[in-house]
Amino acid sequence: PQSVKVALLGCGTVGSEVVRLLHEQEDDLTARIGAPLELVGIAVRRPGRTRDLPVPESLFTTDALGLVKRDDVDVVVEVVGGIEPARTWLLEALHGGKSVVTANKALLGEDGATLHKAAADAGADLYYEASVAGAIPLLRPLRDSLHGDRITRVTGIVNGTTNFILSSMDATGAGFAEALEEATALGYAEADPTADVEGFDAAAKAAILASMAFHTRVTAADVYREGITEVTAADVASAKAMGCTIKLLCIATKQDGAVSVRVHPAMIPRTHPLAGVGDAFNAVFVEAEAAGQLMFYGRGAGGAPTASAVLGDIVAVSRNRLAGTHAASESAYADLPVAPIGDV
Ligand code: HSE
Repeated sequence: PQSVKVALLGCGTVGSEVVRLLHEQEDDLTARIGAPLELVGIAVRRPGRTRDLPVPESLFTTDALGLVKRDDVDVVVEVVGGIEPARTWLLEALHGGKSVVTANKALLGEDGATLHKAAADAGADLYYEASVAGAIPLLRPLRDSLHGDRITRVTGIVNGTTNFILSSMDATGAGFAEALEEATALGYAEADPTADVEGFDAAAKAAILASMAFHTRVTAADVYREGITEVTAADVASAKAMGCTIKLLCIATKQDGAVSVRVHPAMIPRTHPLAGVGDAFNAVFVEAEAAGQLMFYGRGAGGAPTASAVLGDIVAVSRNRLAGTHAASESAYADLPVAPIGDV
């Protein structure tokens, strides 16, 4: 059968791993999809950079929009991040009837509704498993497997950097600044760790999770947010004395037709399943009326784990394309009121 043609936007930590996995697993992917995947272009900012990837130099381009507009492209994969120009590229792709796979939590958290509408209008797929909790299969279980149930609450550790910092403060008694330094030295925290330590990254992910779990639209701006910069060694020590540990949690609840979503440091008993989630791991605890309690755990960041989720989405949208179908649109769902913190 004809190949499924893939355009990749971005070739950093995650993008390079996507390219490597596409190459390494070529035969398995072809068997799973029923047609070969063909990488037809990779949009990058700096074309000359040595990447040591198993693809010809001629695939690299700086013209992302031109690549997205190509008639022969079936699937656009975006691993650049940030709101613009990613939104413009992905809307162009969807308007052109292309399937979209993205890891872009900031964009989905801020303006998922516009992308969902474009996907619904075009009858195209929009998949973003990698945007929350990296490798952990989470959004599709929420969207598909639990679709016959009613989710009441989602409690998660969805930021690896802050979990590393808080776990290290708990283990060593270090203060926030010292633990952040360690996280930076080990390559967990970014050069500018603001989005992580101030809770912006977790708030975007919380918005995506709540939208998916409760079939409504929540944006990052709807999320009450507090980061971990004010957490002191003394706070951690007193939590410990009470048999607790401090975690940066995202908590999304639905009650009486309203939704509440918040991100803040919280004391949790050491016996809680989330308390044992150390290092830079992520975990999400889901409560549903019929299913009861579920826990999703794994690596939430890093090139290979995030690429694993991206590849899974590429397989899913490629299969849908070959079958002439697409996933049901999220934009068909109702807009539930988002209540201020404390109301729910
Ligand atoms: N900065 C993020 C984290 C990366 O630490 O979890 C994954 O989204």
